[in-house]
Amino acid sequence: MSGTRHFLEVYDLSREEFLEVIRTAHRFKRFGYPSDSLKGRFIALLFEKPSTRTRVSFTSAISRLGGVFDYLSSSELQLARGEPVYDVGRVLSRYVHGLVCRVRRHTDLVELAENSRVPVVNALSDRHHPCQALADMLTVYELKGRFEGVKVAFVGDGNNVATSLMQACVLAGADFSIASPVGYWVPEEERRKAERVAAETGAKLTFTDDPVEAVRGADFVYTDVFVSMGFEAEAQERLRAFIPRYRVTEELMSKASPDARFMHCMPVKRGEEVEASVADGPRSVMYDQAENRMHTEAALLHLIYSVWRWI
Ligand code: CP
Ligand code: NVA
Repeated sequence: MSGTRHFLEVYDLSREEFLEVIRTAHRFKRFGYPSDSLKGRFIALLFEKPSTRTRVSFTSAISRLGGVFDYLSSSELQLARGEPVYDVGRVLSRYVHGLVCRVRRHTDLVELAENSRVPVVNALSDRHHPCQALADMLTVYELKGRFEGVKVAFVGDGNNVATSLMQACVLAGADFSIASPVGYWVPEEERRKAERVAAETGAKLTFTDDPVEAVRGADFVYTDVFVSMGFEAEAQERLRAFIPRYRVTEELMSKASPDARFMHCMPVKRGEEVEASVADGPRSVMYDQAENRMHTEAALLHLIYSVWRWI
């Protein structure tokens, strides 16, 4: 509905708003959360796919901020029997102050948002995972204290996580490189948008099919599963395209900056996209990223409801 703002992809925030989320999350993590910023607010979590981190980080953040939530699995809703997405958006948004949704198709999320009177937050779709990118950038900020001049390299599938990370890096002014096999690159339209944003913020962008080129000089080496939720039918073909060249190994890490950290959104498939010794080694910050999901989501909700007042 016109006037209501949503967080469906990273670019739904301005650069200033994005940086305000990171700063607020950093403060919340150090000094604690305001216990009443969601007082009287009811948030529904509507999930079409499984989740560990997103579900529990959101519900914990909402509770700590004084709000109330309900978790709705799509299989238990009339959606499962074919109720149109627009009716779900029109009806649920009359009951709640916000919808946090994990969907199979990004187009459904857009339709839900277009029919919602209250903010819709993307908890992962096939094209974007913006809440993950907020947590990733807080992790980068904690370790480097800045974004300018920091290089983040993604090796693997140009998927939802890669797209949101790319959007977040260029918006924040961090350099971003990505190595994917031909056929698995981030969508062309996202690449063009990122180049436009990078031209404004001064971020450097590199697209290649060569993992060694992508990680050269990188402060962070990031990967994600080769077979995302919803792509199981392509599993064999995908594993053939990615393994072994796009696996993050000790050898590949040695080509990055000497103090480079390893990042992963989790869940991890040790032995597929990353060697176990890298995922579980001293350079890995994946558990910090997972923790930061809660701090950045708390910051986002606090800003939406108590500062920016999207509703
Ligand atoms: N990283 C992430 O979104 O994890 P879940 O699928 O467990 O929520
Ligand atoms: N790319 C993965 C991320 C899971 C958090 C997926 O969509 O399944």
